[in-house]
Order: sequence, then structure tokens, then C-alpha cells
Amino acid sequence: MPLRRPLLAGNWKMHKTIPEARDFAVNFLEKVENVTDIDMVICAPFTVLSVLKEELEESIIHIGAQNMYYETKGAFTGEISPLMLQDMACTCVIIGHSERREYFKEDDELIAKKIKAALEMSLTPILCVGENLAFREDGKALAFVRGQVEKDLMELSPSELQKVVIAYEPIWAIGTGKTASAQDAQEMCSAIRSTLSGIAGSVAQQIRILYGGSVKSGNIAELMAQPDIDGALVGGASLEVQEFAQLIQNAR
Ligand code: 13P
Repeated sequence: MPLRRPLLAGNWKMHKTIPEARDFAVNFLEKVENVTDIDMVICAPFTVLSVLKEELEESIIHIGAQNMYYETKGAFTGEISPLMLQDMACTCVIIGHSERREYFKEDDELIAKKIKAALEMSLTPILCVGENLAFREDGKALAFVRGQVEKDLMELSPSELQKVVIAYEPIWAIGTGKTASAQDAQEMCSAIRSTLSGIAGSVAQQIRILYGGSVKSGNIAELMAQPDIDGALVGGASLEVQEFAQLIQNAR
């Protein structure tokens, strides 16, 4: 039994209309129906979750969202709750993506609350962490990312932590075509695991850590070969059926 089952997650970001999402779901499912050794999830915009629920709820492909608020309901105009995501058959939710931290000013305190709320509603949070180029060039990347992991997860018990997925996404590698080298990605994912050991002891060995940032069918195999990389969070390459299906095959 492998300790950590590989996970490949697509993050569609702000892409796809209802017909596009339906078309993708139907065609993609056909191509990956035989994949039983990897967990797959598509994290889609809220507006197409009901379509994915119709097409994928009974399939091996999991449905995820890209954000949520931490309250179950109430006067929070424009927000979506974990309960609403459950309604849409979501099993996962991305929390703290660098685009939310940067453009929507999400801080670690808010992110920690969202993680806790997701777990309370039995949603798997995919926590995103990662440094910008300035931190990388100054040699401060490891310390920065360790700090994010600690601040975002500190309040969790080991049994809660075990259910969290962490995605290491260096900001300078997102959408830029610049992937971190497999060695650099491994070095950071290993540092994240050692930080997790500090919080939760041996449970750290069971926590899945993904890499994200310009992952494609052509570089996934090398990334997956690293001992502390358990999968990927994929942006651009998850938007095309053929490319994402190929990426999944190449990850096996
Ligand atoms: P790209 O794969 O497009 O670089 O995006 C990565 C990402 O941000 C996934 O969450």
C-alpha cells in the first residue's frame, strides 16, 4: 500500500462557460475512466459546479471549488459557504491560492479559518503556499514558505492535518512557463514535510504535497519521481482535454 495516493488537481481559475465545462467533463471522463491509481479533481468556477455535478458526481473524478468563506451561512454578500459546496458535490476546495492572497488580500489568519471550516464540513482543503521571485532570489524562499505552512495550519490537530493537501506553488512559476526544477521543487516539498513533522509528528508522512506552476504533460513525470512530491496542481494545462488527460497518463 503506498503511503500517499497520488493526486492530480486541475485549477480552471476564471475559465469556462457552462457549455464548455460540460463538453470538457464528458470528453475528459471518457479518456481517464481507466485511471484507478491516481485521485483526480477538477476545481472549477462556482458557476459550472452544477454541470460538473451532473456529469461527474457518479464518476471517479472529484469535483472541487477554488475558494469559499468560512461561515456556513449568513449576511456575507457575494460569498459561498462550505455547505453550498457540499450541495454541489464538491469534495475539495483550494484555499489560499497566491492569486487570492495577492489580488483579494487574503491573509494567513483568514486562510487558517477557511481551512478549519472546510475540514469541519468534510471538504479536503488544498492549501496553496509559495514564495515570489524576490524571496527566491534573496535566498528566503524556504523560511517564507515554512512560515506560511505554520501560520495556516498551526491550529489543527494531527488527525485534521492528515486530511489537508498542500500545494507548493512558487509564484514566479505560475502561468509563466518557468517550472521550478524538479530538484528545487523536491527541496521545498521536503522542507514543507519537515515543517509538518514539527506540527504533527509522524502524521507528516501521510500528508500529500503537490507541486504547481507551469506543470504540463511534458514535465509531470520528472516531478512525480521526486520522493516528497505526491501530485500536482495544474492551471493552464488542465483546460484542454487532450493535454490534461495526457498529463494524467504521464504521471502514472
Ligand atoms: P499554471 O499551471 O497555469 O502555471 O498555474 C498554476 C496554478 O496556479 C495552479 O493553481
